[in-house]
Amino acid sequence: MNEMPGLYRIAVLPGDGIGPEVTAEAVKVLKSVEEINGPLFRFQTGLIGGAALDATAAPLPAETISICDNATAILLGAVGGPQWDSKRPEIRPEQGLLQLRRRMALYVNFRPAKVLESLIALSALKPDRVRGTDLVIVRELMGGIYFGNPRGIFAKNGERMGVNTEVYREHEVERVAHRAFQLARLRRRKVTSVDKANVLETSRLWRDVVTRIGRSYGDVELEHLYVDTCAMQLVERPTRFDVVLTNNMFGDILSDEAASLTGSIGLLPSASLGERTALYEPVHGSAPDIAGRNRANPVATIASAALMLRYSCRMESSAVAIEAAIERVLKRGVRTSDMHGKKRPVTTSRMGDLIAEQTRKLLKSSQFRRK
Ligand code: IPM
Ligand code: MG
Repeated sequence: MNEMPGLYRIAVLPGDGIGPEVTAEAVKVLKSVEEINGPLFRFQTGLIGGAALDATAAPLPAETISICDNATAILLGAVGGPQWDSKRPEIRPEQGLLQLRRRMALYVNFRPAKVLESLIALSALKPDRVRGTDLVIVRELMGGIYFGNPRGIFAKNGERMGVNTEVYREHEVERVAHRAFQLARLRRRKVTSVDKANVLETSRLWRDVVTRIGRSYGDVELEHLYVDTCAMQLVERPTRFDVVLTNNMFGDILSDEAASLTGSIGLLPSASLGERTALYEPVHGSAPDIAGRNRANPVATIASAALMLRYSCRMESSAVAIEAAIERVLKRGVRTSDMHGKKRPVTTSRMGDLIAEQTRKLLKSSQFRRK
């Protein structure tokens, strides 16, 4: 495959907390790819979340929307923090991210969780149980209880009542199901669809539609699990999963659970895809407790940048080089403070430097030059 990508516009939205620190390292690694392959990217930075609220009173300002509308892909850090919890509870930093997902019509979210042998001791579970775990949570991202109406806190019979509504339309389930089956074909050809069909109508519809779509992927095995069973199986037998397809809310919860299998939530990338501009962000949050201290783990954001090269820039070999660089650096025992090891932890920027350097080295090697 010829990798002559032209110029990609990358919207960089650092956000809050450790967001600016980790996105800076991902940009550093992308620039190391440019050093070898020539100019590829035009970066434009925009405000989102609490940082945007402070500057403009909106969590997703118009200027950021226009940067994103014109971008090939969006690289995001994290949003939120305690300082915005109480000020105006009806406007929260998280809304910036939720609005962006809807605005860009990002209906599917891939969250891969892979246990690396070199980090197996960090897993929350015993090594023998997690060894070989390699799964992807495919989370529906534009619907469900996150966005359904009616919603709000209403006064009724002299007390307050909180209301949220879960809604799924058939086409919303269909399109995310297709993405899950297509992904499974590139992997071990197994889809586990997760729902709560014993209780919820939305889940019964979900199961029905997924079963129907599954018939056109006869080469992919399909099973259905209730979400409570899935939560249990994830810790009891995580290696049984390949592609886990689920709704917005269950996917949010199960992806944090899956993250803890891998040793640190600081490792996990994600890709949110629709029909056009895609968004890449770490699964972790803004970690305000360590923000600004050069302590955060940039690996999840760097790995998200690799996914960006794969899905938005058609630069598969560079994506593989970054992923291999991450694995090599971790294998050497380099750790940030979230991955407490025996050695002294390195800083955020040091981790970024080492991965950038390793990426350059790999891209120069014959294995990557052929493409
Ligand atoms: C995630 C986060 C977000 C979500 C928040 C920050 C809105 O938890 O991406 O998993 O719930 O989707
Ligand atoms: Mg979450």
